[in-house]
Amino acid sequence: MPLVTTKEMFEKAYKGGYAIGAFNVNNMEIVQGITEAAKELNAPLILQVSKGARAYANHTYLMKLVEAAVEETGLPIALHLDHGDSFEICKSCIDGGFTSVMIDASSKPFEENIEITRKVVEYAHARGVVVEAELGTLAGVEDEVNVSAEDSSYTKPEDVQEFVERTGCDSLAIAIGTSHGAYKFKPGTDPQLRFDILEEVQKRLPNFPIVLHGASSVPQEFVEKINKFGGNMPGAIGVPEDQLRQAAGMAVCKINIDSDLRLAMTSSIREYMAEHPDHFDPRQYLKPARQAIKDMVAHKIVDVLGCDGAAE
Ligand code: G3H
Ligand code: 13P
Ligand code: ZN
Repeated sequence: MPLVTTKEMFEKAYKGGYAIGAFNVNNMEIVQGITEAAKELNAPLILQVSKGARAYANHTYLMKLVEAAVEETGLPIALHLDHGDSFEICKSCIDGGFTSVMIDASSKPFEENIEITRKVVEYAHARGVVVEAELGTLAGVEDEVNVSAEDSSYTKPEDVQEFVERTGCDSLAIAIGTSHGAYKFKPGTDPQLRFDILEEVQKRLPNFPIVLHGASSVPQEFVEKINKFGGNMPGAIGVPEDQLRQAAGMAVCKINIDSDLRLAMTSSIREYMAEHPDHFDPRQYLKPARQAIKDMVAHKIVDVLGCDGAAE
């Protein structure tokens, strides 16, 4: 099976009350860990590549790694550009074999967001590629994505219908309280997603796939392990998994997870290196790190996304 778009995946996910995991990939071990879990659980997959990942690993290497995963697993896999910030990067990924792109013009004024999104949609659709867009702004800091809490804003449900109609986008990322990175909520607070906004959006866009970015749950055992073995991560708090499961049963068809993979991988490597200070063969510490990614993804597929067995 070649790479697929997310069209059919999302139709089934919407009807089935589950979501597809969109996991960020940066190197071979990450691709292998994710796809081995999905293969064992017969789960459809979205592998996504950020601008930073392309700069780190190179478009062609990532493309070939994902093609290898498709060949090895036989699963329906979509290859998606995460947070494309210009028409040019979207075009480059469409021309370079991606089956889905995100144009993230969410920091721009409404009309400008519509204009750039529509331009990407026209180019993408003419080539059989689907487009995710964003309305509302998530807080959070990562390599290429950096929004302060003051500049973040919830999606306004009254805007979504006009935005989707005028742009022709295939899915919409909305801001309901998730944010990028490991520091999403203040320690000691009770994290709560805005399900009232999601419900309103769902009413105004019937059967339309919604996307949640910034959806890592930052399991404390991994933060503790990092800190136990020489790290220093203060107060990292993520999105409660039961709330993500609830969203997956609603209009949310795609849930983006990156930070949890970073935590799984880094905590494993820290533990390994602390326990084997004389080892220097990268395969020795990357093997358990790959397994940690696989375990994390398996847990997400079964307990959060609910998409196990859905890759028919
Ligand atoms: O939301 C952004 C993704 O987690 C990618 O992060 O830009 O550091 O690769 P990155
Ligand atoms: P996290 O930082 O919560 O994993 O979010 C990842 C993401 O939204 C990628 O686009
Ligand atoms: Zn994101």
